[in-house]
Amino acid sequence: MGGRKKPALLICLVLTVALLGGAAPRCAALNPRMLFLVKPDPIVLRDHGGALLTGDNLTVNLLFYGRFTPAQRAIVVDFVRSLSVSAAAPRPGAGPPSVASWWRTTSLYRGGGGARLRLGRQILVDERMSLSRRGRPLSLGNVTALARAAGHHRGAITAVLTAADVPVASFCVSRCGVHDHDRGGAHGRARYTYLWAGNPAQQCPGQCAWPFHRPTYGPQTPPLVPPNGDAGVDGMVISLAALLAGTVTNPYGDGYYKGDAGAELEAATACAGIFGTGAYPGYPGRLLTDPATGASYNAVGLGGRKYLLPALWDPTTSQCKTLV
Ligand SMILES: *[C@@H]1O[C@H](CO)[C@@H](O)[C@H](O)[C@H]1NC(C)=O
Ligand SMILES: *[C@@H]1O[C@H](CO)[C@@H](O)[C@H](O)[C@H]1NC(C)=O
Repeated sequence: MGGRKKPALLICLVLTVALLGGAAPRCAALNPRMLFLVKPDPIVLRDHGGALLTGDNLTVNLLFYGRFTPAQRAIVVDFVRSLSVSAAAPRPGAGPPSVASWWRTTSLYRGGGGARLRLGRQILVDERMSLSRRGRPLSLGNVTALARAAGHHRGAITAVLTAADVPVASFCVSRCGVHDHDRGGAHGRARYTYLWAGNPAQQCPGQCAWPFHRPTYGPQTPPLVPPNGDAGVDGMVISLAALLAGTVTNPYGDGYYKGDAGAELEAATACAGIFGTGAYPGYPGRLLTDPATGASYNAVGLGGRKYLLPALWDPTTSQCKTLV
């Protein structure tokens, strides 16, 4: 084995709607048809016993690659800042669920400690300065290098977010984002977690911005109004949310997942396509509606900002837990 990192873990995030049309994806995700029509055994993500990310001082560094407007960055930044707001649990019936209450499901995994995420650094990379802007899409190796160059440090998750016009290899073909870990080159033993999610607005909104865009495949439902008025970034937040949940519950490929290497289902991907109760293929489930804008959402963050967040698998019930 040489020094090159073995791609031990590359969790693909595939939104279910992409799968309903039949074309076999390279990275499988659960077809929710199984959940609702066949009524199978509860899904069980097996705990493979490896380290999870826990603790109350984990940071999420955000690397924005390419052109994001300040308003777009604010949607993402406010989402991350909303994850760990230590508000008391909302009283039943007292307003919409919070982003922090969505995240709390991750603390039901082994140990019950959970991970408290704080917003770390924000790094803006102007992709026009980079060498391969002309022509070649970014490879996942480039993403790893970007995360590494952003300065790995222990207890951090580096999220590389690519702008709508930045092509990334295999974006759309099989995935909306990935998470993985890196040994950081020369630094030896430490393992650093990172993820990539792309803004799908121009490249594959029907796969990675559903339900804010008509699905590419499957039952055609009218698109929902995105809660922050930006189908691409609101869609990217769904991917980011799913990948953060996968990162803390299966950071190194030996935590909670079901299935074979390369096609694992994790906390959120096991529940792909489900956002509210009563979801079925092509229908995200019952959601809350903003009366002023008509936007659909299921969680509220800091400053009242609204988000649509994916269902997470709840290890205490072996069900996909929805907020509304
Ligand atoms: C939390 O982590 C950050 C960055 O890793 C560090 O600078 C800070 O001192 C830590 N805070 C606490 C309370 O441990
Ligand atoms: C991506 O990786 C390739 C191969 O290592 C390299 O030639 C290219 O410059 C990289 N692109 C960026 C934007 O870093």
